[in-house]
Amino acid sequence: MARLTGRRIVLGITGSISAYKAAEVVRGLIQEEADVRVTMTKEAMHFIGPMTFTALTGHPVAIEQFPSHGQPGEEHIDLTIWADVIAVVPATGNIIGKMANGLADDLLSTVLLACDVPCCLAPAMNFRMLGNPAVQANMDVLRKRGYHIIESAYGPLANGEIGEGRLADPDQIVEAIAILADSRRDLAGRRVLISAGPTVEPIDPVRFITNRSSGKMGFSIARMAAQRGASVTLITGPTNQPDPYGVTVERVKSAEDMHQTVFHHLDGQDAVIMVAAVADYRPKQTADHKIKKGASTLILEMERTRDILKEIAQNKPPVLVGFAVETHEGLQYAKQKLIDKNLDLIVYNDITVEGAGFDADTNIVTLLHRDGREEVLPKQLKIEIADRIMDEVVALLHTQETVLS
Ligand code: CTP
Repeated sequence: MARLTGRRIVLGITGSISAYKAAEVVRGLIQEEADVRVTMTKEAMHFIGPMTFTALTGHPVAIEQFPSHGQPGEEHIDLTIWADVIAVVPATGNIIGKMANGLADDLLSTVLLACDVPCCLAPAMNFRMLGNPAVQANMDVLRKRGYHIIESAYGPLANGEIGEGRLADPDQIVEAIAILADSRRDLAGRRVLISAGPTVEPIDPVRFITNRSSGKMGFSIARMAAQRGASVTLITGPTNQPDPYGVTVERVKSAEDMHQTVFHHLDGQDAVIMVAAVADYRPKQTADHKIKKGASTLILEMERTRDILKEIAQNKPPVLVGFAVETHEGLQYAKQKLIDKNLDLIVYNDITVEGAGFDADTNIVTLLHRDGREEVLPKQLKIEIADRIMDEVVALLHTQETVLS
């Protein structure tokens, strides 16, 4: 199962130069197994043709409010009833104005007037239009009415100027739609802190010691926690993963940086999930200058770093989850870490198994619970494993509240 399996998304496209990027958004939604229907304004068709979207979605594009064939005049209601989420990508100043003022003079604006499902819009326009007080006031009205605005980005605009108003990144838009389409919200009001990625420990200004962690597992958990409604802080070592939508991201380098940043954000967290592959040792000294070659061997003296998870456990948040990446006799080591680090759950990951471990999109893990239960999960996408781990976090939070009440 992908993130949007079986979810029905109506994408409304309006007349901005960035309308061509809506094709990438549709592709992203389909990759996540959504069923997508597209409706375009006549202005949008100046920038991209409907055939592209028919080919991508496998459905005809809805354009006319009063089509010459079929059931006239009911398409707006049909689309609204069908949709789980409606997204306007890109949203021009004009459609934003119409939505804020309840105007409906074409198919898309009529669909939006009839919309009673979650709705988001991704504005795209020149910074002069975006900065216009009328546009800002209209967006405020929409925010207050519960529309989700996927904020535009700063950067090069269509005419070569630099400023606010670029359509948000298509991946981020897909992410925002996935969050809106998930009706569970079982982590709403919860704060979750997640660590991810490797750490890097400098030897000299040009060299460092690190590990193979890609960050994919931790980022997937952050995405899933945000999708289920949590307020998420992600503290990550160096990776090339982009910031997940709606997540506060802190990028750090060394184990010591990670320690400081985790403890800075620790207060008030409902759950902490340490996925990061934190270095256990770092060079005792970092050379100021590049170390030049000399003798045939070089000995680096290393010292232990602090065990972040163990220190968190001394003042344990309601839910504490660790990971154990192992290559041999892993189950025994993982069980020992669950006890030593006073965890509620440890996710054991044998990276020697095909389809598991670093940099892959899939993983094979075993969940080891404090009460001795062991669950071997089948090979699946990291995002699916992340969802399963969040099920456990939700269950642990409920159990603790039941015990306390
Ligand atoms: N961890 C941590 N701080 C460290 C080392 C590890 O918080 N300095 C956390 C990891 O994020 C993970 C868990 O502890 O959630 C287990 O990490 P792992 O590297 O598997 O185990 P270690 O405790 O470092 O033991 P060893 O390296 O001997 O297997």
